[in-house]
Amino acid sequence: MMRSLSFSIAATCTLAFAVVGSAQDANYDESKVPAYTLPELLKFEDGSPVATAEHWPKRRQELLELFGEHVYGHTPAKAKETKLEAKVTQAVTDFLGGKASMKEVTLTFPGVVDGPALHLLVIAPKKAMGEPVPAFLGLNFRGNHSIHADPRITLSENWMRPDKDGLVIDNRSTEKARGTSASRWPVEMIIDRGYALATMYYGDIDPDFDDGFENGIHAVFGKPKANEWGSIGAWSWGLSRALDYLILDAQVDGAKVAVIGHSRLGKTSLWAGAQDQRFAFIISNDSGCGGAALNRREFGETVKRINTSFPHWFNDRFPTYNDNIGALPVDQHEIIALMAPRPVYVASAAEDEWADPRGEFLSAKLASPAWELFGKVGVGVDEMPGIDQPVGDTVGYHIRTGKHDVTDFDWGRYLDFADRHVK
Ligand code: GCU
Repeated sequence: MMRSLSFSIAATCTLAFAVVGSAQDANYDESKVPAYTLPELLKFEDGSPVATAEHWPKRRQELLELFGEHVYGHTPAKAKETKLEAKVTQAVTDFLGGKASMKEVTLTFPGVVDGPALHLLVIAPKKAMGEPVPAFLGLNFRGNHSIHADPRITLSENWMRPDKDGLVIDNRSTEKARGTSASRWPVEMIIDRGYALATMYYGDIDPDFDDGFENGIHAVFGKPKANEWGSIGAWSWGLSRALDYLILDAQVDGAKVAVIGHSRLGKTSLWAGAQDQRFAFIISNDSGCGGAALNRREFGETVKRINTSFPHWFNDRFPTYNDNIGALPVDQHEIIALMAPRPVYVASAAEDEWADPRGEFLSAKLASPAWELFGKVGVGVDEMPGIDQPVGDTVGYHIRTGKHDVTDFDWGRYLDFADRHVK
């Protein structure tokens, strides 16, 4: 059943590309960015000014509602009330040659027989045996077993997108996939810096194809209404459920959990951080369209393009702005601002034009007045910095050398930022 659905999504994508063109056809010419007017961040919907930190919670709520209604979709009330049951299924204390512990936790729906199960992997430095440590939490694309080669990490059995290296066969991961995403998850570096790392396969929450919202957690919560969540909303919800668990875990300081995500999962970490203020620090790595990049620039991937290629990511109202982006009541500088006054980091890659690095920087910059309400400095610069020159005070930003990816350079900056703001 799932397999045939996955093939039909492949067909849908091909059709979609035919309709809206390819990445090659996208605009990459700064002089062709249309003139645009952004919605004003520090103005209430009734037009009155947002002038003080005391005004911010009300403005924050307005923006959250607008993003729910027009972009990512509201989280259904039933999902907001749901708490998952946690069971530790494996715990070892000799991970990374004894420097760390590793634990696997299964999160399930109380009373739902054969329902979805979310598999959280928690790796913590030795120190966490005696006292709680700050942590990074992020979803992964290829299963927990892909982030590190240790064979004790359970191989994911859930549906997975096909890959070109033969690591996934019949939409299931193979043993060969162990450790193949390790470059994106520098576990030793994170542990050596005194942080725990928690991660979960995003497909545990909602398999990433357009199945009409029947599988993953949608099987429990039912088909969404037009203004309710798509997959990004579901993945974000999963991050909050993982945080529920981490808050109770004695190894982790629940008040110091950063949420991190790359690309579509960077869009997800932003929406998770916007909705759940328990996240202490939010990181968007190359999140692009529907993430940190300004929609109205229409540079690289556009709203029309993303809604056509990935109709299951956002809610059903977002595509109504495909050809009329100027009418969208929000833009993405406002999703960044929803993190205020907490620290946030936006990162771009120089060769990742599809994600519009300049649009990502501008969002970070134009969101910064929200931090100024609190007497804090946001990104602190007016001009986009040079390559590999990180900037920012409470809003971090860098554009690094290279392609769409997560590298040690990125992690190094996130760890420095966490040392400064979270530890
Ligand atoms: C595609 C998509 C992007 C997304 C990326 C990813 O390129 O167009 O919006 O960020 O996939 O998640 O890797």
